[in-house]
Amino acid sequence: MTASPPSRSLTAIVLAAGKGTRMRSDLPKVLHKVAGRTMLGHVLAAVRSAGATRIGVVAEPGRADVAAEIERQAPGAGVFPQVERLGTAHAVLAARPLLAGTGDDVIVAFGDTPLVTPETFARLRAPLSEGAAVAVLAFTTDTPTGYGRVLTVGERVLAIREEKDASEAERRVCLCNAGLMALSGDHALALLERIGNANAAGEYYLPDAVALAVADGLSVAVVPVEEAEAQGVNDRVQLAAAEAVVQGRLRRAALLGGATLVAPETVFLSHDTVLGRDVTVEPHVVFGPGVVVADGCTVRAYAHLTEVRLEAGVKIGPFVRMRGGAVLETGAEIGNFVELKNARMGPGAKAAHLTYLGDAEIGAKANVGAGTITCNYDGVFKHRTTIGAGAFIGSNSALVAPVSIGAGATVGAGSVITKDVPEGALAVARGHQLTKPGQAAAMRARLQALKERRKGG
Ligand code: UD1
Ligand code: MG
Repeated sequence: MTASPPSRSLTAIVLAAGKGTRMRSDLPKVLHKVAGRTMLGHVLAAVRSAGATRIGVVAEPGRADVAAEIERQAPGAGVFPQVERLGTAHAVLAARPLLAGTGDDVIVAFGDTPLVTPETFARLRAPLSEGAAVAVLAFTTDTPTGYGRVLTVGERVLAIREEKDASEAERRVCLCNAGLMALSGDHALALLERIGNANAAGEYYLPDAVALAVADGLSVAVVPVEEAEAQGVNDRVQLAAAEAVVQGRLRRAALLGGATLVAPETVFLSHDTVLGRDVTVEPHVVFGPGVVVADGCTVRAYAHLTEVRLEAGVKIGPFVRMRGGAVLETGAEIGNFVELKNARMGPGAKAAHLTYLGDAEIGAKANVGAGTITCNYDGVFKHRTTIGAGAFIGSNSALVAPVSIGAGATVGAGSVITKDVPEGALAVARGHQLTKPGQAAAMRARLQALKERRKGG
């Protein structure tokens, strides 16, 4: 065996041409999401972290949505249409330009198998640098039905047999092919081109590369993996199962990173959620994509956050919604039933109850009273509201944007503010109160008399 130089680059081919009929969806299967990122996105991220510098995705032709997702998750990756779906080896060969002449190690991944970690891809590749021509990922299970079986004699691998082609004795084999494979750049193209389709399905099977390599006297390695990690997603039951696995991993990483999740099983994280040290997350919190929580923050129960940044020591909730680039600077606080959209609150600013702040800038230490609404939308355009540092907004005020409240200004409760309020000013914009001493009894008597008359008539 000759060891490959460690300087070999890695090419990853991701097969993503599945129709995913059992998802019963208008969306291609690989665009369904797990922990806020598409399955294809997970696979692309994993092969990149495993060191792949060249990436090709084999996809159904003409799917602009799939192409856009590939560009988002792995800019510069090649997209190779597979016009007819003639099997996994045929699919890999759709990316032939990536395989020809580079000498790269090659890993083949499946776009609908999102749980495989970068470490596993690296383990799968490792035997190539010890001279293996092919490495297959495999697991042992008591329920092998449906999988390709890895046929061995002693330690030696002979072939992989698909369920449809297997004899009764072969079907009793419990060592199963996970489907993913690594191929040495010296042999990949030659092996793939010799794979035929003389089998029960009439398909070009990628796992046939094993028997061909063995026939050439090349070495084939089997790399173990847990069955759960190699699970593919074909329907929404399996999608939910994959979600549960990823949530488990993310919660564990958050806990080990120094965040307290009081009831971890009720907290839903995204693939990119960042929780600092000594963050406390109470039960029933959903972190959508793009959330960064700095050290020492408290997220109380029933918060829903997407595209949000909480700076150190911020307290939010219970029952808050934050989205669209909302930012709370150091020590800011929002309480129950507060929604922030594309709004920034400066250091120490507070909105304790029942408030909507959209497209707004709130200065340091400003206090926004209960029931305040920034009226940011006129039905056509969105407008901004600015509240200066130290301003006080009385309860139940409507701030009709575009509008600005100066630093240190006070807005009287119940105001509808349509004009800018200068720094330090007091603005009250509501109907005047009329108070008539002793008139309550007279009014009640009048109404009572009216009621009696109506009964009589
Ligand atoms: C494959 C393996 C089987 C293994 C199993 C593990 C083959 C022939 N069999 O079977 O040994 O036990 O995975 O789950 O490889 N794809 C294309 N174009 C095609 C065919 C498939 O892009 O023409 C993609 C699919 O979208 C999918 C992946 O390749 O992501 C695997 O194809 P699938 O049909 O699921 O193969 P299995 O029958 O599961
Ligand atoms: Mg499959």
